Formats: sequence, C-alpha cells, structure tokens
Amino acid sequence: MSAPNSTAATASPKSFLEVDDLSIAELGSVLELAHRVKAEPALLADALAGKQVAVIFEKHSTRTRVSLEVGINSMGGAPIILPASQTQLGRGEPVADTARVLERYVDAIIARVNSHEQLAEMASVARIPVMNALSDLAHPMQALADIQTLQEREAKSVAYVGDGNNVATSLMIASAMTGLDFRIASPPGFEVPEDALERAKSYASESGGSVAQMSDPFEAAAGVDAIYTDVWVSMGDEASLQLKRGALEAYRVSGELMSAASPSAIALHCLPAHRGEEIDAEVIDGPSSAVFDQAENRLHAQKALIAALLGGAK
Ligand code: CP
Ligand code: NVA
Repeated sequence: MSAPNSTAATASPKSFLEVDDLSIAELGSVLELAHRVKAEPALLADALAGKQVAVIFEKHSTRTRVSLEVGINSMGGAPIILPASQTQLGRGEPVADTARVLERYVDAIIARVNSHEQLAEMASVARIPVMNALSDLAHPMQALADIQTLQEREAKSVAYVGDGNNVATSLMIASAMTGLDFRIASPPGFEVPEDALERAKSYASESGGSVAQMSDPFEAAAGVDAIYTDVWVSMGDEASLQLKRGALEAYRVSGELMSAASPSAIALHCLPAHRGEEIDAEVIDGPSSAVFDQAENRLHAQKALIAALLGGAK
C-alpha cells in the first residue's frame, strides 16, 4: 500500500473508520503483513521511527489500549494515551478543534468514541490519518484481528450470533471483503444496519464470499467453521439491558449451538465476555475457544494497519 502522503498534496490522508476504508486489495495486504509480523516481530521494528500517535479513549478499554500502546512502541513510535475525560474534550472542546490542534503535534490520531460522527468529523478536518478504535457503529481494528484468527485456523465460514452491533458490523464487512461465507443471526429489531449489510453483500460478490442474514441461530450455525458472539449490551447502550436480555436469550452460544457447527469449529468473542449471558463458560473456556489467540492478534493486526497507513510497511 502506498503511504498516505504519497498521493496529491490536496488529497485527504488515508483514514480507517470502517474496514472498507481499505480496498479489498489493501485489506489483503494488511492481513498478509499481520501474519508476517506475528511470525517475525522484528519485521516492523523501525516502521514508526520518529512518529507520534495520539490515542484517545472516551470509553473503557483493556485490549485495544494495551495492544495499541505496545504495538506503537514496538515499531519505534511514541503513543500518547489520552483518556478523553482528562483532556479538554471532556469539558466540551469541539472535536474538530481538538483534531486541528493534534495534527500540529502528531502523525496520526486513533480514537475510541461514543459517537461515530465524532470520528468522521476528526477525519474530515485532520490532515493526518484518523483510525477508529471502536465507535457505536464499528470496531474495525477488532475485525482485522478476527479475520487474522479465522485465516490462521483455516476457517472458510463464520456465523455471528447475537446483537447486530459495532463488532458484528465490522466483522461482516471484513468477512465479505476477504471471501468468507458469513452468516448473521440476530433477533428482529437488533440486526446490523441495512446499509452495511448491502455493502457487505456487494463485497462478497466481488471476493467470492457470501453474506446471509437470518433470525434462527441454529440455521446460522449449521456446519460453519467458526461461531462468533459479543456482549448483549454494548458500552453506552446500558439502558437497553432488559429489552436485550429478553430478545437475546435464545442467541447464547452454548455447547448445543457449537455442536450444530462443523466438528472442528472454533468459538470467537472479541472480549470482554459475560459467561452465562451471550456465551456459556463451557464454550469460552473449552477446547474450541480461540478467544485468546484472537485477543493476541489485536497486537499484530494493528501493527500491520498502522505501519501501512503511516507508510512504514515493508
Ligand atoms: N475487544 C476490545 O476492544 O476490548 P477492549 O474494550 O478491552 O479494548
Ligand atoms: N460491542 C462491545 C464491544 C466491546 C469491545 C461494545 O461496544 O461495548
């Protein structure tokens, strides 16, 4: 992939707000680099030499925060971790002003935000790449690690079962772009956004994959190589707990649901998990679980992405 600043001076820098901000070919290159850097961690040791990256968190995080900080450091860059509540953002400074200031100091902005619109606003004004570390609509860095995990386990199909949330949406788009057969079972009223579903279907027709939405979790799980779920209630969505609990009860990833999948199927979850809600302990703590490999891959996949967007990829 070319460096963002190698395009015409007036072009916007390459940002990563959703997986399909990359082309299918670019996504393939990032994933290929993620596999290579996992096998050979020194590969990108100097990729961010001299680069500063502001990493803003408006919501809690364990995996994303630590994997970004470790990953940027390991490539010779300097992460500047900014809990939003300790910045002027937390006192109401406009996000656009924040982005205009940060671009004078740093080479990229990575942000976990309450509202996706805040990221879009930052990306529209900043002359540096802006990357999404989770919004209400998308979690594309997670999706990179998810596809890396599916690829290393040689999975060709994946069923997402549960709330059609940010994680489900990005996983669907990434699966479609990488030629996987993707099914999603969500209760009526909790499906992924229609526009994302249509985009995914169009990528699948280009990549040779498929995308299907349904409401029956057992229909989705039948014969697949991987079953994926996420929390019933996402950060910022707590008011919907009672409604969601009723609707999603039948979508728990249980041993019974796993046995509808391929005999060698893996269980995936972006974490943090709620055992006994969206996934049973016997599954997440059992032999089919790949969730900690998946969590590890956050590090490798994000290193590949950031190196690619900041021009240090080999
Ligand atoms: N999966 C994920 O994004 O985890 P964190 O919220 O801990 O970053
Ligand atoms: N869907 C979850 C993912 C957490 C990593 C949330 O947004 O809270």
